[in-house]
Amino acid sequence: DWKMQDVLEEEIKVIKGMVAPDEHVICALSGGVDSTVAATLVHKAIGDRLHCVFVDNGLLRYKERERVMATFQSDLHLPVTCIDASDRFLSKLKGVKDPEDKRKIIGREFIYIFDDFALELEKKLGKRPTFLVQGTLYPDVIESCPPPGSGRTHSHTIKSHHNVGGLPKDMKLKLIEPLKLLFKDEVRKLGCILNVPESFLKRHPFPGPGLAVRVLGDVTEGNALDILRQVDEIFVQSIKDAGLYDKIWQAFAVFLPVQSVGVQGDQRTHSHVVVLRAVTSEDGMTADWYYFDHKFLVDVVGKICNNVRGVNRVCQDITSKPPATVEWE
Ligand code: XMP
Repeated sequence: DWKMQDVLEEEIKVIKGMVAPDEHVICALSGGVDSTVAATLVHKAIGDRLHCVFVDNGLLRYKERERVMATFQSDLHLPVTCIDASDRFLSKLKGVKDPEDKRKIIGREFIYIFDDFALELEKKLGKRPTFLVQGTLYPDVIESCPPPGSGRTHSHTIKSHHNVGGLPKDMKLKLIEPLKLLFKDEVRKLGCILNVPESFLKRHPFPGPGLAVRVLGDVTEGNALDILRQVDEIFVQSIKDAGLYDKIWQAFAVFLPVQSVGVQGDQRTHSHVVVLRAVTSEDGMTADWYYFDHKFLVDVVGKICNNVRGVNRVCQDITSKPPATVEWE
């Protein structure tokens, strides 16, 4: 793609011009497409003066930390520090039931950890990092009028931006936002040129607060997170095996804090209920529930009930957005 090749070369030139040879840059990776492509691009421009951090908040999916770290290291050769902050996040979330409270706590904790990371780096390098990379996209920045000279003429609906973010005021970091004139499909093309694996570029969106908004109520109760991870993995892997992953905008499981009566073997059980949710969408603003065929659903429900201890009932969410939202919280 010639146009994106030009964009790439231009961006690298701009970044090299912005960051002096003795300056350092930090970047928080979420495991998503945008931050990964942004970091890979900046890394190409300034090499190991880029310092990335990936935070395991204890709310990631099955083996997610291992999987994304492997991609960062072996496929992209990105310098990434992985911080396991699960205990920190989960202890703050204990007993918290309100979805917005959960989001706030997670956002705040993330900032503290990022701040610590910057401090550690300062000690190690003998100087403060001066820039921060953000994977902001064009639809995130425009209001009704595009930035002058951007060549963009059409307005685009602003997605309510609920990424975990907002940064400490006293960090005084200058921003590098190499994707801020691009749309999602262009970011994917750019990622492709930068050799970000296709499987990574096509990942479904995943909310910043992670599984905290998919375990309804207190996420620390019982083994809710563990059950949810297993169910989610079976569901998403079955979707991949059936060749449906790219047709779906998001697919995931939700854990309900209720128990239902069931019978397994000749035992009466009183176990958990999980929900499967899959939707198609253009931009997440509206969404339609995805219609699976009968056999697919029978197989998935069988796999879940036979393999995940503590689940005896599986429901499917067949509500579109509106009136529902994509996530349950
Ligand atoms: P809703 O549930 O609002 O979701 O219909 C629309 C899209 O946004 C994602 N989402 C979030 N992303 N932080 C995020 O970074 C959040 O708190 C959050 N809540 C929802 C959701 O996964 C869907 O793609």
